[in-house]
Amino acid sequence: MPHILAANFAAAQTPFESAGLKFLFASIGKEGVAGVQAQNRNFLLHFSPRNDATILKVDKATRPPFLESVKLALVEFANASGATIIRKNFGEIKSVVFSDLFYEPNEFIAKFDRGKKLWIEAGFGSGRHILQNAKRFSDKLHLGAEIHRPSAMRLLRRAEEQGVGNVAALLCDAKTLLAALPSACAERVFAHFPIPWDKSPDRRIFSEPFVKEALRVLEKNGVLHLRTDSQSYFNRALEIAKKFENAAIETKTNEEAITRSKYEDRWRRLNKTIFDLFLTNLRDQTQRSISYNFDFPNAIKPKGEIARGLIANSEKFLLKADRRWQLANEGYLVRLIMGDRLALQTAYLLAQNDRVAYFPSEPIHSPSNFLAHNALIETLYG
Ligand SMILES: C[S@@+](CC[C@H](N)C(=O)[O-])C[C@H]1O[C@@H](n2cnc3c(N)ncnc32)[C@H](O)[C@@H]1O
Repeated sequence: MPHILAANFAAAQTPFESAGLKFLFASIGKEGVAGVQAQNRNFLLHFSPRNDATILKVDKATRPPFLESVKLALVEFANASGATIIRKNFGEIKSVVFSDLFYEPNEFIAKFDRGKKLWIEAGFGSGRHILQNAKRFSDKLHLGAEIHRPSAMRLLRRAEEQGVGNVAALLCDAKTLLAALPSACAERVFAHFPIPWDKSPDRRIFSEPFVKEALRVLEKNGVLHLRTDSQSYFNRALEIAKKFENAAIETKTNEEAITRSKYEDRWRRLNKTIFDLFLTNLRDQTQRSISYNFDFPNAIKPKGEIARGLIANSEKFLLKADRRWQLANEGYLVRLIMGDRLALQTAYLLAQNDRVAYFPSEPIHSPSNFLAHNALIETLYG
């Protein structure tokens, strides 16, 4: 990740604009954060003391898909803060335009082309399978959810290089994404060679809540396809699948795949057995009736503040504020850990001038995040 080591740093007064970037706010103290806007995308910088100097880096949870704007922001913020750059781990900064193929999950959900059938891949890794599918099945929209940023970036790069326009990469947990998608919007959901997590099966993606959401998101006769080299994973997945009455189960072993993923190639070379589980949704989905609104009632002045600590903890969701920074121009920023306990999300809340908003963007519009959002409203305005 790009970072800078700087001497004599004292966070610049905000807001200001420099080199096409907007520096929106900064916190007080030697250890803190600064909010940046580049090409209408917001992200955070962190600064903290390192020996006699200050290290500046980008926040992991908010960093944008391409890092050139981050490098520029680090240099501009260090300069505006009167600092001398001692060292930086990057060279020349190129100009950058954000890829259209990369979407924030909420952005994608709000504007995806409903005319195209959706094929979803949970954890696409090398991206070989999703990219091949995108080429072979060009009338479909191929949506990949991946938590590993370099994999998401690599898929975008390859898709752009190869002129493949019907693929979108979302950097997010696939379980949370499914929970936020509308019902009956997809024809296929793939979970290929998921991490086996044999020692902590709770972390497996193919869980009961995942299957429930996948079946809700699938249209009638849509198929959830698990492919794995782990017999114990497969056996457990089969047990889970049998709990769903409105889905037909089919299993296969050592079926040749139309598109082999990198993992599959490896397991084939080792002569491993490959297991397939197909779950076909037999039910017409009723649309989920609630549409989630993540606004804050900003016409009203908040009565309370979000302090550090646990805010809510129930079976359905968790909400805690694990960090808090006081801003230089009044207000505060808190880091929130929220949502489904098995797929917790990081989000930031910015409270300034009696207005409260998520920064840089709202959490994924999933039911568990919505419960957490309501707990925030209760704490702030209750
Ligand atoms: C073993 S790799 C398999 C990749 C690919 N499906 C293949 O067949 O080559 C599993 C991938 O799933 C991703 N992953 C794990 N948990 C995930 C989750 N909850 N949501 C999205 N991606 C996830 C990992 O980052 C990794 O890239």
